[in-house]
Amino acid sequence: MHPDIERAVALLRTGELVAFPTETVYGLGADAANPAAVAKIFSAKGRPADHPLIVHLPDAGHMARWAREISVDAEKLAAAFWPGPLTLILKRQPRVPDAVTGGQDTVGLRVPNHPLALELLAAFDGGVAAPSANRFGRISPTTAAHVREELGDRVSLVLDGGACPVGIESTILDLSRGTPVLLRPGAIGSADLARVLGRAPETAAPHADAPRVSGSLDAHYAPRTPLQLVSSDGLLFALRNALVAGERVAVLAPTAQAISHDLVTWKRTPAEPAGFAHDLYASLRELDALGCVRILVQQPPAGEAWLAVNDRLRRAAAGSGEDDET
Ligand code: TXA
Ligand code: MG
Repeated sequence: MHPDIERAVALLRTGELVAFPTETVYGLGADAANPAAVAKIFSAKGRPADHPLIVHLPDAGHMARWAREISVDAEKLAAAFWPGPLTLILKRQPRVPDAVTGGQDTVGLRVPNHPLALELLAAFDGGVAAPSANRFGRISPTTAAHVREELGDRVSLVLDGGACPVGIESTILDLSRGTPVLLRPGAIGSADLARVLGRAPETAAPHADAPRVSGSLDAHYAPRTPLQLVSSDGLLFALRNALVAGERVAVLAPTAQAISHDLVTWKRTPAEPAGFAHDLYASLRELDALGCVRILVQQPPAGEAWLAVNDRLRRAAAGSGEDDET
């Protein structure tokens, strides 16, 4: 057993917060059955209280304690993808605190695929409510050091499991409305879900669920430095303009550095979706810390394989450059 697990479980049992790694991003966890503990998540994050939280479970056998009317689709998806980066929205059991669901009749459940998270959840033997362990509206943390940067002593303990292998948040699928609806794209794509469901999920109209899904707010996943998405030609054009204006700029692109200049910091990103997602938040954090006038990101191709990455980039661009933390 990891040396910190016992202390983490004791903290959860006494209503304290514990940050822990998952395969997607780090979570800020509290005992999901304890409303006072869950309330601490919202104050630590600076997050509005009507935004629901995902309940993390040790295994699919715990589903019925938190959700009711569990459909065959839900059973099949859990069997196929858990532990893994898929959150299922289901009708909730009455015992789920309103603080977790934002007062809705549904609850988000997932079994994360990370050895440390699974060890923690098994030892706790209950549900751990956890959003991403960042301040509201900011970039999700993918290392323990990011969590400490974001939350400092607002969190009692940070379990360090190294860098998160996936790097962007779980796919969210709503199974509470009859027909499955994709609320947030992630590493598990529509085609993967369709193989199990026998049909493709519908996609939520943009903003239809805001603020039910805070991940659907445009001010999400955002650096403080203005972030601009550009084509490969647009990148060289924007770079030249910046240099003419004497601006310091950061670049995130899959190609080798095209312009060498004191004012330019060039960060190369993997050219395939999984690698791009894995590095994305750490790269944005690093470039955001440089104090540049602008971060230029070369927009990846369109298409299903890049859907989740393009979703996060679009939101990062929309929410960037704002100074308030709420
Ligand atoms: O990968 C992840 O999902 C990470 C790790 C820590 O598990 N968690 C995460 O949590 O991204 P958070 O709170 O940052 O985003 C969870 C999203 C929010 O947008 C929330 O509104 C939505 O899930 N959500 C949770 N319960 C819901 C519900 N009952 N109905 C609709 N949306 C829900
Ligand atoms: Mg989040």
